[in-house]
Amino acid sequence: MKKHLLFLGPPGAGKGTQAAVVSKDNSYLHLSTGDLLRKEIELNSDLGNQVKDIMNKGQLVNDNLVLEIVKKNLHKNNKGWILDGYPRNLSQVDSLNKVLINLNQPLEIVFYLDVPDEVLIKRLLSRGRKDDNEKTIKTRLKIYKETTEPLIEYYKELSLLEYIKADEDLKTVSDDIKYKMA
Ligand code: AP5
Ligand code: MG
Repeated sequence: MKKHLLFLGPPGAGKGTQAAVVSKDNSYLHLSTGDLLRKEIELNSDLGNQVKDIMNKGQLVNDNLVLEIVKKNLHKNNKGWILDGYPRNLSQVDSLNKVLINLNQPLEIVFYLDVPDEVLIKRLLSRGRKDDNEKTIKTRLKIYKETTEPLIEYYKELSLLEYIKADEDLKTVSDDIKYKMA
């Protein structure tokens, strides 16, 4: 059973939803940089105030801020971990590689959740998170395509990538992930 996982995919692909299932089933840490940043905003912390406007616009938060959050949460004693929404660009990949070398816990599998744009937009608009409005979704998708999508090729070359057709019902997607994790 793989223990060190990454969920990659566009906004609305189901990264958070599926990571929650895997984390619950296996008692793995679910590390969502988006969730952790939203928590900081809720708490009205300095960090939260720094990132609020950027997140509401759908732009990426500064790499160093995100790296600090990741370092704070990834520990050797986690039974396993799932990265959700991190890394998102090649510089974050570099930083993550260093963190994982220090932990001596290399990534074992990268699930790429693929969903067509029109389905993503529909899902996000009906969810209604603060950054789920037409303008912000457009920015998030654009940034995803420009800066995050190249990671697919990167992990493919390392033979870590598993393709998931994620435009299916929740259970079908979960079963596919479970099968490929084993
Ligand atoms: P983040 O929170 O990571 O948002 P995102 O990448 O835009 O992705 P979402 O969380 O919207 O989608 P998801 O793939 O998790 O899908 P979900 O399961 O929720 O990031 C937010 C912001 O934080 C960024 O814009 C940036 O500002 C900042 N940030 C975060 N990480 C960063 C980083 N590393 N570097 C810099 N900045 C960073 O599902 C979506 C909806 O679809 C839900 O309603 C769900 O119920 C539904 N759904 C899921 N699966 C299915 C299915 N199979 N069928 C039908 N509906 C489904
Ligand atoms: Mg999410």
